[in-house]
Amino acid sequence: MSILSGREALRADIYSAAEVAGYLWQKGWAERNGGNIVLNITELADERMRAMPALSEPISIGLELPLLKGCWFYCKGTQKRMRDLARDPMAGGSVIRILPDCRHYEIVADYPVMPTSELPSHLAVHNYLIAKGSVCRASLHTHPTELVALTHSGKWLDEKAATKMLWSMIPETRAFCPHGVGMVPYMLPSSTALAEATIAALERGFDVVMWEKHGVFAVDTDIMSAFDQVDVLNKAAQIYIAARGMGFEPEGLSEEQMEEMKVEFKL
Ligand code: 13P
Ligand code: ZN
Repeated sequence: MSILSGREALRADIYSAAEVAGYLWQKGWAERNGGNIVLNITELADERMRAMPALSEPISIGLELPLLKGCWFYCKGTQKRMRDLARDPMAGGSVIRILPDCRHYEIVADYPVMPTSELPSHLAVHNYLIAKGSVCRASLHTHPTELVALTHSGKWLDEKAATKMLWSMIPETRAFCPHGVGMVPYMLPSSTALAEATIAALERGFDVVMWEKHGVFAVDTDIMSAFDQVDVLNKAAQIYIAARGMGFEPEGLSEEQMEEMKVEFKL
């Protein structure tokens, strides 16, 4: 029997990850097994869930994350395709619980699907979010083509320059991604160094972080909102690239126009 049986709130949460997984595939941001989703489902873990036996031995996180003691997560499985997860999130991912030593986890349901290779980054970020008293419960890593393309130029690896350019392409970006984009220099995918650099970027006040020549990492209250932020930013990057493709540097909204948005929408 699935862990989702009789747990409507948990089912809704995990199926919103499945819906986003479908969008990631449709957007062309999820080639092969590209990208991952992790949801903090601790608030939805009931007594019966807590009594469930593990499907795996304890598995090392590679980090000690003290605030994750007793926490529960839904994680995309490593090497699983977003387009498959969209149809069946419990075959494309698994539910895990963090063990009391805060260094290991075990897989609890529905099948022994090994979590994403980017688990160190996701879990380190969730540990950080709890430390900050954040209401964010979802983390998303994806490969949005145009945003990744930007990170191939030193010019756009500057956080201020990239944020200003993206904000200035279309007013919604200023309104819906009010913190802009952080930058993390290229690091080996799945490494703890990448996890630490991602936290450092969140510390600088960003909730969307670009991983140079790799992808984007975003956090938000729920997975749909995390997707929305990346979608809005990638749209801005597409407008920039479309203008360059037509042979001109886009003008961009003026400082005054962006300031007007900030005041009007209390950003
Ligand atoms: P996983 O299949 O392990 O989730 O990895 C995908 C990815 O995008 C790594 O950066
Ligand atoms: Zn990736």
